Amino acid sequence: MKLARPDIFHPRIVFAGCPTLPDGDGDDAGLVAALRTRGLHARWLSWDDPATLDADLVVLRATWDYPERLDEYLSWTRSVRNLINPPALVEWNIDKHYLIDLDRLGVPVVPTQHFPVGQAVRIPAGEVVVKPAVGAGSQGAQRFVDADAAAAHAAQLHAQGRAVLVQPYDPRIVDGETALVFLNGEGSHAFTKGPILPAAGSAPEFEETGTYATESLSAAEPDDEIWEVGRLAIAAVTRMFDIAARDLLYARVDVIGGAAATGSGPDDPRLLELELVEPSLGFRQLSAGNRAEAERQFALGVESALERLGLGPLSHRRP
Ligand SMILES: Nc1ncnc2c1ncn2[C@@H]1O[C@H](COP(=O)(O)OP(=O)(O)O)[C@@H](O)[C@H]1O
Ligand SMILES: [Mg+2]
Repeated sequence: MKLARPDIFHPRIVFAGCPTLPDGDGDDAGLVAALRTRGLHARWLSWDDPATLDADLVVLRATWDYPERLDEYLSWTRSVRNLINPPALVEWNIDKHYLIDLDRLGVPVVPTQHFPVGQAVRIPAGEVVVKPAVGAGSQGAQRFVDADAAAAHAAQLHAQGRAVLVQPYDPRIVDGETALVFLNGEGSHAFTKGPILPAAGSAPEFEETGTYATESLSAAEPDDEIWEVGRLAIAAVTRMFDIAARDLLYARVDVIGGAAATGSGPDDPRLLELELVEPSLGFRQLSAGNRAEAERQFALGVESALERLGLGPLSHRRP
């Protein structure tokens, strides 16, 4: 471990959680130590803690309550000194309307219709999923076979001032979705998330703090065809925002279709979500060795972000 030297700058780094999970959900538990190994000091705070405004760099992690406090959250993302991922990416990515942008850029996404408040919602034939455009942890997402019930759920979201997303229900979700984790623009690891939404008409079960729906996760080694969907999404977003892929500290791409359980290999895999705000990165799904390496990559990414921001150890050396 490097020792603190008084003549070098020690940036204050904060990992942001939320009031119910101020230290995250445990998946990121190794990150503070991974940074410490590189001579960097980080601590956890709830995003709404005013002390976040004193930090040199805030890294979004378990800020999972933002859908209920959206305006406050977005204005906070713009008021901290430096944010990862950057506020412009967060603002774009917080609203699943981005799926339509990705579709236009040639990324295979789950067919999506977006209905802002005030616009009549059209429910296509067949089973659908209706969910809020701004949502996390499956809050407000439900399956429907009855179009009237689907329209009623959409109307309820609109009444709360929330834009609505309607997608055909993709039955391949019974095999789960594959979460592809990219660190510093490179594919790092992957895990599988079991299906979350119960049959039409009922809401999912939530874990004890009520912040996110109960998930069953396991390690995965997806085929390259699945990874390709992730690479296309990373390429699209880095082009849109004119950033280098290596400067994207973390991204998670959730893909439906071709999860290992089918045994038949991927067929038309489609992006369900690109998560640049606060995705859980599934470090806990990895073997000890792979976990340590992924956490090291994360720490290296933080270190190079600090350099880029002029916050590296030698950036503020006293004369
Ligand atoms: N079109 C769909 N077809 C099948 N399952 C879906 C679909 N959309 C969402 N789901 C299920 O609902 C869960 C939550 O939806 P998602 O789009 O991932 O929103 P978020 O995770 O941001 O709440 C997914 O993990 C998946 O299990
Ligand atoms: Mg999701």
